Amino acid sequence: MTTSAADAPAPGPDHGPALLPAARSVRPGDGRLVLDASTALDAGPGTETVARVLRSELSAATGLPLLPPGPEGAATAVRLRIDPDAVDGEEGYRLSVGDREAVITAGSAAGVQHGTHTLRQLLGPAAYRRSPLPGARWELPAGEIEDGPRFAWRGFMLDVSRHFMPKDGVLRYLDLLAAHKLNVFHFHLTDDQGWRVEIKRHPRLTQEGAWRPRSRFGHRASPLWNEQPHGGYYTQDDIREIVAYAADRNITVVPEIDIPGHSQAAIAAYPELGNTDIADGNGIDVWTDWGISPRVLAPSEYTLRFYEDVLTELLELFPAEFVHLGGDECPRDQWKRSQAAQARVAELGLDGTESLQPWIIGHFSRWLAERGRRLIGWDEILEGGLDEGSAGLAPGAAVSSWRGYSGGVAAARAGHDVVMCPEQQVYFDHRQADGDEPFPIGYVRTLHDVYRFEPVPPELAGTDAERHVLGAQANLWTEVVHDRRRADYQAFPRLSAFAEVVWSQLPPPADRDTAAFDRRMEDHYARLDALGVEYRPPGGPHLWQRSVLPEGVEGSLGRPLEGEPPAR
Ligand code: ACM
Repeated sequence: MTTSAADAPAPGPDHGPALLPAARSVRPGDGRLVLDASTALDAGPGTETVARVLRSELSAATGLPLLPPGPEGAATAVRLRIDPDAVDGEEGYRLSVGDREAVITAGSAAGVQHGTHTLRQLLGPAAYRRSPLPGARWELPAGEIEDGPRFAWRGFMLDVSRHFMPKDGVLRYLDLLAAHKLNVFHFHLTDDQGWRVEIKRHPRLTQEGAWRPRSRFGHRASPLWNEQPHGGYYTQDDIREIVAYAADRNITVVPEIDIPGHSQAAIAAYPELGNTDIADGNGIDVWTDWGISPRVLAPSEYTLRFYEDVLTELLELFPAEFVHLGGDECPRDQWKRSQAAQARVAELGLDGTESLQPWIIGHFSRWLAERGRRLIGWDEILEGGLDEGSAGLAPGAAVSSWRGYSGGVAAARAGHDVVMCPEQQVYFDHRQADGDEPFPIGYVRTLHDVYRFEPVPPELAGTDAERHVLGAQANLWTEVVHDRRRADYQAFPRLSAFAEVVWSQLPPPADRDTAAFDRRMEDHYARLDALGVEYRPPGGPHLWQRSVLPEGVEGSLGRPLEGEPPAR
């Protein structure tokens, strides 16, 4: 019998643990493969890195050496093979388990790696620990699994500006993404509240821009302040390590440097980047509050050259095709009051202050295109129009559609690639239940709501423009996500549901079987437990995961009203 793992009944002892994300097809066989100290790991050409990662993770968990096969051949083996003719799709794979060997065959190293994650899931939750439990047995159920992703862009964005995540936490998140077959890490490195990547040509960006003296505690309407200074940044070697660690797991790191708004930390470090001819354009600190700072970059030649320097270093660090330049939430008030900005509008022949943001983004989209890269930006980058031209976007520019689907629909119809991440659906800083959530900001989006998220909107489904939907990503903004524990709480288990949405061939949202998903999540919670992920339990937060206002303090740590504008 062949079933999709999404439709399969709750797994019995013969079928092994439930897979998450669900595989395309599962054909159970008879018997099982026992892995022991004599089991070899046989890496075919092109799979050496996959084998290295698998060995390091699985040997730690199982205590088995998983050595290359000896001259006489091992008793049992896990074999990794690249064979583009044998499997459909760039990232597809087949896992065949018999009683002597498990063979993962795929068209690429990425596909083989996805197969290794499936294999690990089949070994049970203890395969996610870093040291073996006493008496553990390592068995794989026999059978054949064929699988491959629905979308090429299966992403997760982490904001490390509002709250910094130290490097080891980022590496751990890359492991968690890989375990869920997610393949894009969008690294939101700069914002009003902190600059997090070392730039050698402009060292004050991190010397001064990477910390702030205090932070508002809770949503921006909260009455509380945390007086602990907050900061941190990644050195260029840290970034190289993160990018290489991700690449070893077939994850692409897309860096984001947000311009021309959300730039107050940079302006605090280099005041010349700001609109210095107006009163509130001077003496700026790294922002301690949340929301949208009115202090934006000056549209000057100095700013352009400065960010070209930044991007020159960034391109050396990040080999990804895409570089994210933000472009979102750029208030024009300072430009309206700045004579220098007005003079710039006239000099450039623009039709007003509104056009300065598209002009800056257009400049950098072409600058990146000249260097063989592509700009991606939030959907505000469409404000200058969709056409190529002096104030427009370079042809390869792509859009992260966050204010709902409409920006993505317009961009896709105009021939731009799109990543869907509507805030109403997949902003994971937003609360995941009504009621007693620790920081109840934004829309209520439960685990099941995320499971019913559909990246392709009806307007595009079945049209030629559908192919421009590269995929989707979930975004974790961190104003109220102070540390790794809180990040886990907000991201999980919703990221598990999201992973299935972007990987598996699910029916339309109304037909998705949330009860079957919940049954499979039971196996998956055990994996998350073994990994040490502090997810939100299905019944609500643990006592220690709640937040409360100190006694006698009036106000709210969050904003509990549905339908209000974005609440950060
Ligand atoms: C965004 O949420 N401002 C992209």
